[in-house]
Amino acid sequence: MEKLNAIITGIASYVPEYILTNDELSRMVDTTDEWIRTRIGTKERHILKGEGKGASDLGAPALKKLLEKTNTNPDDIQVVICSTTTPDYKFPSTASIIAEKCGVKHSFAFDIQAACSGFLYAMEVANGFVKSGLYKKVVVVSAEFMSSIVDYTDRSTCPIFGDGATAVLVEPTTEDLGIIDTELHADGVGLPYLMLKAGGTVHPTTHETLEKREQFIHQEGKTVFKYAVTCMADVSESMMKRNNLTHEDIDWLVPHQANMRIIEATAHRMNLDKSKVMVNIHKYANTSSASVPLALADWESKLKKGDKLIMSAFGAGFTWGSMYIKWAYDGSEVNK
Ligand code: UT7
Repeated sequence: MEKLNAIITGIASYVPEYILTNDELSRMVDTTDEWIRTRIGTKERHILKGEGKGASDLGAPALKKLLEKTNTNPDDIQVVICSTTTPDYKFPSTASIIAEKCGVKHSFAFDIQAACSGFLYAMEVANGFVKSGLYKKVVVVSAEFMSSIVDYTDRSTCPIFGDGATAVLVEPTTEDLGIIDTELHADGVGLPYLMLKAGGTVHPTTHETLEKREQFIHQEGKTVFKYAVTCMADVSESMMKRNNLTHEDIDWLVPHQANMRIIEATAHRMNLDKSKVMVNIHKYANTSSASVPLALADWESKLKKGDKLIMSAFGAGFTWGSMYIKWAYDGSEVNK
């Protein structure tokens, strides 16, 4: 059998309408637009409003758009993988809810929890399915309703996050394109530094956990920052070395959008000019696992067949990783 590679054949994104600006945040907590822009790099973030909403209300519109854009019959989708840190429910999976909302009836569906590295983890799983030859149309949805777990009285975390979703279609090819190499890591040392303390089996929600506001993100920013800088830069450099790539060979770095200073440190280690770095943290903030594919979606029209991309992410766990892909189509053709 000919060797198969997994390629992205389409991408779509969805962000909710409401925009929460730094100025609005600075009326909610003791912060300033200047602090947020210089320490994080964010100007605004999109927020999902309304009662009874979940991550699937972000993921489903993204998947619907993808199916339309790629002219794909929902009946042909064989696998739906959803990366999310903010599932609609503990069970069933958000992937199965999104599939139902989009009329995808003949696939199996499941979630992946790898925090901000979720897209890369999900893509590697999709890669395995497609490369095996068993599955021809796999969808990766990244849906993050981060504002549902953000404490808007805590100035150290509330400026950081935003809501958003993406969907990508992954299919096989025999061409030398698509996912060429992946390096993923996990180290449980990260647990105390970035977590949701209550609501799981260790600390189920009680009046006490609610009083302590443990239903919201807990982050020790400085420690997470140090790990993020080191791990993102290390894994991106490692990806270059493993594939004998110099900075001249790489067309784009697609970094997780957690902090502009982490992105700059990664690009610096790779010796990459900033013109090759996809940055949209200023308009979406950190959308966890949706951040890397949101950048891909924003840049789709500029991407050319054969472009060499390195995607890198770091998140809670800790989890981190990097993926080297050769882009499979001319984005300008899609967005005419
Ligand atoms: O995506 C998953 C991975 N997550 C990350 O990669 C996030 C990593 N961490 C970070 O990006 C940064 O650590 C933060 C953006 C969270 C914080 O930036 P920092 O430069 O590490 O600030 P800090 O926590 O060391 O705080 C510096 C000062 C403190 O004041 P003092 O003690 O020096 O007087 C904070 O109280 O800034 C203060 N501060 C703020 N001031 C204005 C913290 N948050 C704010 C705020 N507005 N929102």
